[in-house]
Amino acid sequence: MRSLKLTTLNQVLEMPIVGLGTWRAQPEEVERAVWAALQAGYRHIDTAFNYNTEETIGKVLTRWFREGNGKREDLFITTKLPNCGNRAADVSRFLKMSLEKLQLSYVDLYLIHMPFSFHCNEGNFTPLTNEDGTFSLDNDSDIISTWQAMEEQVEQGLVKAIGLSNFNQSQIERIYKCARIKPAVLQVELHAYLQQKELRALCKSLGIAVTAYAPLGSPGANKHFSSKYNYSIDDFPDILGHPCVCALAEKYKKTPGQILLRHLIQQDIIVIPKSGNPDRIKTNIALFDFELSAEDLEELNALDRDENGRIFDFLFFKGVERHPEYPFKQRIDGW
Ligand SMILES: NC(=O)c1ccc[n+]([C@@H]2O[C@H](COP(=O)([O-])OP(=O)(O)OC[C@H]3O[C@@H](n4cnc5c(N)ncnc54)[C@H](OP(=O)(O)O)[C@@H]3O)[C@@H](O)[C@H]2O)c1
Repeated sequence: MRSLKLTTLNQVLEMPIVGLGTWRAQPEEVERAVWAALQAGYRHIDTAFNYNTEETIGKVLTRWFREGNGKREDLFITTKLPNCGNRAADVSRFLKMSLEKLQLSYVDLYLIHMPFSFHCNEGNFTPLTNEDGTFSLDNDSDIISTWQAMEEQVEQGLVKAIGLSNFNQSQIERIYKCARIKPAVLQVELHAYLQQKELRALCKSLGIAVTAYAPLGSPGANKHFSSKYNYSIDDFPDILGHPCVCALAEKYKKTPGQILLRHLIQQDIIVIPKSGNPDRIKTNIALFDFELSAEDLEELNALDRDENGRIFDFLFFKGVERHPEYPFKQRIDGW
């Protein structure tokens, strides 16, 4: 499988260009999926403190090592600092909780999950909410001091590389200017309908690798979003079913999922499709025996809807748009 080289503190790290996503998967599903993925050749797993999948992943990895399938350095594990721990003073303790659950002594990549922060409910490590249902914004935290605490984790050997997720252009530039250890990766929503062309150009100029989350358009999240975002299920984008994607699948004798993923990796974008289905887990990584022609790549590039293609705007965190670091202000400017 292809890897991208990440430059981090005094070393170059290899990041496999395809990883397994684990958001919204239940423990039994994660257990089966991570095992099936490792058997299918995945060496990169994406999780986060607030997915509640770290503990199960830790169990699977421990079994995988114990049974002699490989060593720690064969794997690339990403996890994320939650928005309720998004302040300098909390970075170390949240990372330690993640490492404990994952049963690992380090992670390869630690990301600040979101640029905005909420006060923390210390009982269950979730965001605190106010009586009116709005989220309790922590307006005092600042992304620069949080980044400095992230850098300390690299220096202590607890993480190999650090990066950002859901940060916008100006937030990335602010961090980059002050960083002693530059962000290695930006993880953002990225698929055929939201191709993030400007953000990708910025990252390229700064030497930051880009990971696409929801690379298939997160089709299984339609029910979740219809309750959380008031989305009508019928309005939820069906990128896998787009006629152009289906026609290319027919032409290359591949699945629509493989066409969407190949479109991204062919442009050096890391992909982390989630699946709990063993067949889809296998096909989602079988991307290296074909190449989309320049003409077909252009056809897929033309599906971009820019901001109108965005699915994840986090407005289900009621009141989040009032946080000074809410990253998608342009979406609500018209309100
Ligand atoms: N940083 C962030 O804020 C953030 C936000 C969202 C996601 N993420 C990460 O990115 C990962 C991927 O995003 P995502 O899970 O939202 O969406 P996704 O990977 O685009 O889509 C996953 C959905 O597609 C289905 N699927 C998988 N492969 C398929 C195929 N070949 N054909 C048809 N359907 C297929 C899966 O169902 P089955 O399981 O039934 O196959 C699942 O419902 C997450 O799991 C998470 O690790 C990060």
